[in-house]
Amino acid sequence: MEHLLSEVAGVSVAALAERYGTPFFAYDRAVIEQRIADLAGFETVRFAQKACSNIAILALMRSHGIVVDAVSAGEIYRALRAGYSPAGHPPGIVYTADVFDDDALALIAEHGVPVNCGSPDMLEQLADAAPEVPVTLRINPGFGHGHSRKTNTGGPLSKHGIWHEQLEDCLARGKALGLNISGLHLHIGSGTDFEHLATVCDAMVGFARRMGGQLETISAGGGLPIPYHRTDSRIDLNAYRELWARAQRAIEDIIGHPVALEIEPGRYLVAESGILAARIRAVKEQANNTFYLVDAGFETLVRPAMYGSFHEISVVRTDGSVPAREVDAVVGGPLCESGDVFTQEEGGVVVTRRLPEARVGDLLLIHDAGAYGASMSSNYNTRPLAAELLVANGQADVIRERQTFDHILQFERIPAALQA
Ligand code: LLP
Repeated sequence: MEHLLSEVAGVSVAALAERYGTPFFAYDRAVIEQRIADLAGFETVRFAQKACSNIAILALMRSHGIVVDAVSAGEIYRALRAGYSPAGHPPGIVYTADVFDDDALALIAEHGVPVNCGSPDMLEQLADAAPEVPVTLRINPGFGHGHSRKTNTGGPLSKHGIWHEQLEDCLARGKALGLNISGLHLHIGSGTDFEHLATVCDAMVGFARRMGGQLETISAGGGLPIPYHRTDSRIDLNAYRELWARAQRAIEDIIGHPVALEIEPGRYLVAESGILAARIRAVKEQANNTFYLVDAGFETLVRPAMYGSFHEISVVRTDGSVPAREVDAVVGGPLCESGDVFTQEEGGVVVTRRLPEARVGDLLLIHDAGAYGASMSSNYNTRPLAAELLVANGQADVIRERQTFDHILQFERIPAALQA
């Protein structure tokens, strides 16, 4: 049971729960810094902030020289608030999306944010709003890969990217519009394997050959996996880097000048730093099954309900000890939905998990919740967004306070005719 957690960065989770209440996300700053250090051999690391977009996390990334990706106007706004500037080589912020909205175009024009276009229609819209910003093209190479069907981002049924056959057309359109198209981007999904990656690298070389001398930057997108199961091995970063370095060299040979290489990980940088801590509020037996019901559900961490994703789970007593006996249990949340279960597989199949025997009042810790946890939370069932804590050197800082009911309701209005 040595994989079970009871602390974050040396601080007892029971003490954090006592002080801040539950549920909360707690991120271990040293783990994020270790993951940043792992990637030191890459020329440019662009954090896909959708994984964990708290401005404190962005400020931490910035302090280590990591640049950032934004997929919405709100994420551009966050990056600016965290002190990023879109200027520079590589640019501090890049907007990557398949569509603009009015807010995004306004921020891009005001701050000169470079754009990675995932749809041909974006070219005209950008030329109208901000013709001077650097442009890259996100290509859908016609195939994809992902840890679940919902994270596969390439192929004929994916909404993402510019269809590979339209590359020349988009380059011509860009030229006619006076845009400066200088890069190519391929993100084909999360959870990459190496055989597949070699195919992706070859596809990039082929696109670069078709684009020619105007190419200055290539981006490998995100998708670096992490070991969600304690039996998973870590990705071989050297092999990953070497495959892309080889593609980069091949491209430089073809076009005759250097090109910059970016990677765009989200999960890799933050997933393992975070736990979601919730309190067990009911332990019940139904037929032969034991259920632990906790005070956080898929409104707080949606990955199991949405993708059938697996997260390791720990149980810890309020005195910080770990129960010795184990039982098979189903872990569910408080939502009024039968799918509000953390122990489920893809397709919604509920399964049991071998876990320490818990009592009401114990804490349940969901591991590797630093990526796509808080950033995908909602207010479903009118449940406040959980607090977020950043823990380092034996001290926790609140980086997002738990929402209040008044926060949730602040923009709702009852029309005069309906007022009592
Ligand atoms: N770049 C682009 C263009 C992306 O669309 C994504 C993820 C990333 C980078 C970062 O991928 P990562 O390195 O984190 O795998 N919510 C899902 C994952 C969906 C990711 C969507 N795009 C999850 O919880 O696994």
